Order: sequence, then C-alpha cells, then structure tokens
Amino acid sequence: MEKTLVFAQIKMNLKERIVTTKLPKHIAIIMDGNGRWAKQKGMIRAFGHENGTKSVRETVEACAELGVENLTLYAFSTENWNRPKLEVQTLMKLLVSSLKKEIKTLQDNNIKLSAIGNLNTLPKKVHKELHEVIENTKNNNRMTLTLALSYGSREEIINTVKEISFKVKNNIISRDKIDESIINEHLYTRNLPDVDLLIRTSGEQRISNFLLWQIAYAELYFTSILWPDFTKQHLYEAIIEYQKRERRFGKTSEQLS
Ligand code: IPE
Ligand code: IPE
Ligand code: MG
Repeated sequence: MEKTLVFAQIKMNLKERIVTTKLPKHIAIIMDGNGRWAKQKGMIRAFGHENGTKSVRETVEACAELGVENLTLYAFSTENWNRPKLEVQTLMKLLVSSLKKEIKTLQDNNIKLSAIGNLNTLPKKVHKELHEVIENTKNNNRMTLTLALSYGSREEIINTVKEISFKVKNNIISRDKIDESIINEHLYTRNLPDVDLLIRTSGEQRISNFLLWQIAYAELYFTSILWPDFTKQHLYEAIIEYQKRERRFGKTSEQLS
C-alpha cells in the first residue's frame, strides 16, 4: 500500500513539474518500435501495432489535459508502403477501427482531427472514415490532432515547389515575393505552427522523412522506450526536458536573459 502511494506521489510530481506557461505549442511524435516490442514478447508485429494504439490514446489525452495546442503523430510514412503487403493491410485496418473507436475520445476532449500526407493513396475505407471524423470534429477547438498518413516530407516539399511555380508562371505570385511564409502556406501543415518539440521513441535517432522544414528549430528528444510502452509519464518527462533547454534561435545566452 505504502509503495503504491510513493509511486503515485512520484507520478503526480512529474505532471506538477511542468510549467504550464512554457508548454510547447506543437509536439510531433515519431511513434516507433511497435515491431520490436512484439518481437520481444514472441508475438507477431501486428500485436505491437495494436498495442501502440493505447499509447496514442494516452498521449492524445495527456496533451489535451495539459493544454498543448497541436499534436502531430507520424502514423504511416510514404516509405512504409514498401513493407510486406500483409503488414500494410493490418495497419490500414487498424486505422479504420481506431478512428471508429476514438471518435468518442476526440469529442469528449474537444479535439479536432486533421491529416497530412498523400491521402489519396490511402484505401477507400480509410479515406472515408478519416474524412468522417475530420468533418465531425471540425468545430472542436481545444487541440488539433494531426495524423501524418502516407506522409513524406520530401514529397510535401516537391508538391509545394510545384504549386508555387505554377502560381509564379500564372502571375499569381511574383518570384521576388517567395519567402518563408509563402512556403509555409503551401505545405500540408499550412495551418500549424512550427514544431517546438519532436519526440522519437524506440532508440532510433533519425528523422525518417518527417516534417523536415517544420522542425528547423525544434528541440529533439529521443527515448529508448518502445512506442507501445509509452505512457503519459513518458510524455511529461519529455516536456520537462524540453523546458530545461535554452532555445537560442541563433542568439547568445546573454541576449536572452
Ligand atoms: C512504428 O513501429 C509503426 C510504423 C512505422 C507504422 P515499427 O513497425 O516501425 O516498429 P519497429 O521499428 O520495427 O520496431
Ligand atoms: C518512421 O518509422 C515512420 C513512422 C513512425 C510512421 P520507421 O520505422 O518506418 O522508420 P525507419 O525506416 O526505421 O527509419
Ligand atoms: Mg520502426
């Protein structure tokens, strides 16, 4: 009994250590390690993906409760299409069932769902379910949850270049006016602020074609926790670490204080 109390105390303290006035406005997460988690348990990869959905729910709830305005989750990359057909199918099925199941969590927490990526390449069922949830939650305003699906940052940048060059050719934009904000307005993430904190689980320390432009000045946080083991407490730890960092944006420490 006493031990449980001590643990409860430590957990409470973690959340309380977060400075609510210094929250990251945009957290992005590369949810990695489902396959290894399942393998460690002698199970098939799909078991890892299924269990990863619990971590998604925990993280979404924790961010909403704290007051984080934007959370973007990397759920499926353009490169992930190269996985075995059966795994891709499992992931797509899981997406449909999760969307169906989680609509209540989204509504209860006043969360708006959004999606970025080459959404037209998704199976019809996923596309339909996704748009239904996006439509049903469009007036929610506590937090925006963005799913990166069939997402690749290089593809996003290529699309941006194509759109802008089309507009230049047709005299809609003048070439001299192209600046950071014009580029921002043409990315899939046009409605989102830059990423403040990027988290990757599973111990890998790479970006894997995720939000290359948008993480220009993000704080990077890598943890060896495998995604299905990631809980609210791990998220709090990441935010506490983020709040300890000095974000200088090129200036000197003295200039900031
Ligand atoms: C992340 O876990 C989920 C997706 C990429 C869809 P992985 O499936 O990449 O798990 P590992 O990296 O093989 O352990
Ligand atoms: C990145 O994870 C994509 C997602 C988390 C959806 P991967 O597991 O596909 O990344 P790599 O291939 O190991 O870099
Ligand atoms: Mg992986």
